[in-house]
Amino acid sequence: MPKTAISLLVVAALGSALAAQHLPAEGAHGAVSSAEVHASEAGIAIMKAGGNAVDAAVAVGFALAVTHSSAGNIGGGGFMLIRQADGQNFFVDFREEAPGKATTNMYQDAQGNIVKGRSIQGFLASGIPGTVAGLVSAQKKLGKLTLAQDMAPAIALASDGFALDTSEANGLRRAKNLALFPDSHRVFQRDGRFYEVGEVFKQPELAATLKAIAAGGADAFYHGRIADELAAFEAANGGLITAADMAHYQAKWRQPLEVKYHGYDILTSPPPSSGGVAIVEMLNMLDNTDFVSHGMDSAAALHDEIEAERRAMADRAVYLGDPDFVKVPMATLLSPDFAKERWASVKPEQASLSKDVGAGAIPGFESDETTHFSTVDEAGDAVAVTYTLNFGYGSGVTAGHLGFLLNDEMDDFTSKPGAPNGFNLIQGKANDIEPYKRPLSSMVPTIVSKDGKLALVLGSPGGPRIITTVFEVLTDVLDFGLNVQQAVDAPRFHQQWMPEDVYFEGPSRFSPDTLALLAKMGYPLKVGGSWCDAEAIQIDPKTGLRMAATDPRADGAALAY
Ligand code: GLY
Repeated sequence: MPKTAISLLVVAALGSALAAQHLPAEGAHGAVSSAEVHASEAGIAIMKAGGNAVDAAVAVGFALAVTHSSAGNIGGGGFMLIRQADGQNFFVDFREEAPGKATTNMYQDAQGNIVKGRSIQGFLASGIPGTVAGLVSAQKKLGKLTLAQDMAPAIALASDGFALDTSEANGLRRAKNLALFPDSHRVFQRDGRFYEVGEVFKQPELAATLKAIAAGGADAFYHGRIADELAAFEAANGGLITAADMAHYQAKWRQPLEVKYHGYDILTSPPPSSGGVAIVEMLNMLDNTDFVSHGMDSAAALHDEIEAERRAMADRAVYLGDPDFVKVPMATLLSPDFAKERWASVKPEQASLSKDVGAGAIPGFESDETTHFSTVDEAGDAVAVTYTLNFGYGSGVTAGHLGFLLNDEMDDFTSKPGAPNGFNLIQGKANDIEPYKRPLSSMVPTIVSKDGKLALVLGSPGGPRIITTVFEVLTDVLDFGLNVQQAVDAPRFHQQWMPEDVYFEGPSRFSPDTLALLAKMGYPLKVGGSWCDAEAIQIDPKTGLRMAATDPRADGAALAY
């Protein structure tokens, strides 16, 4: 379609906490969904300047590091999934790594008890940051513009500042962990003179760090002045990250997981994501039941979906870890036969007990403040990125005068087998801490195609709830026929093996009849709250329109042109 014939309409669909958005933003050329409007605008601007979906994703990733401080980052890590229009696909693993001096028991005291908070707050909580390596590596290999062009919007937002919206301003004011560390309190809370809604927030120190990366690439971050300054700051404060750790870090290109499901081709995240394996397992299990015929959110369909979640999450706890350190039984976990075996223990109209379910037997084997963004360009290339500092504002520690927050991703490792982590996840030995190992993640950027054509790009933050949110948005679109915005808006439920509880969004998101039927089947129900922030783009199979959706539970922006 000629450019002039295309509507110049830019539909900016801005979510707000309770105002559900019912129509996706539509455009013929490109689309971006992210957790913050300036970042989505950066992605659109880069595509309009000739960049592709990877350039746009890189621009969004760096911009979120400026405008969405709780989760956007250069001091954290994540995953990028890329599908090009011709079907070629790539996965960049830029998950953080345990520092070289990390030890398996570093979060336990002499008696073997977990030291509360040590893996979540302060200097010992951080892994070696991976985001800069990941974004730059993807840009270099698959971007069309220069790194400096892709980073220009982020640098401008940091240097010139941007007006804080309600959610960002309130987030900075309320973040208790930022108040504990002098550089964080200075940069993000102006030493107690908190930023107001609408006030312009400038970050000159972060701008200087970003400018150095734009000029010198990932080397400028992992070698030389920035790495040395970070290492000195860590050493002075009892942290473990050294200049050698920084020099050691590399983004890893891995093979995405692929599964066929109900006529669609689903491309998703391999370990150290646990999400892709879990979602493939859940979908394979659902192939053993006609849950769709019961109707979306009926008690019978929910029973099947919850039992699939329970079993996949139990296997997650036992078998999954960094594939460069532990042997993950991928072939079995992904096989329809294994899913069938797992499904055999599901009883009609009766809740299973997680303590009885356990992990499947495989012989021979021992806030959730993340953020997701999706981009689609004119050619039909698509990128899904989930990256994170782990909990809101990560460890709470700003890296001195470098202007960026450090993650608390070490909490995603097993601090002690059998003990719950910050997300109440019970984890196993496969996810033990070892030097330079990557902690298991729930992040699961996912891309769906049908008959060779791009269909859906999605992901979400939310710790283990990422997995169930992505699973539910997938089935809502692929099985129940919802459009992307309806699926993102739809009520959520969550079961993660342990604890036994099943969580339902509420109040009034599921019918009392349905909940009563589930309670009768034996489900321990926890109703209330809302969670995650799915940011997704669907392609209309008939018109090719890009339809971008943002989650009404958060304050993101879906833009298309
Ligand atoms: N930090 C949350 C996750 O990666 O699962």
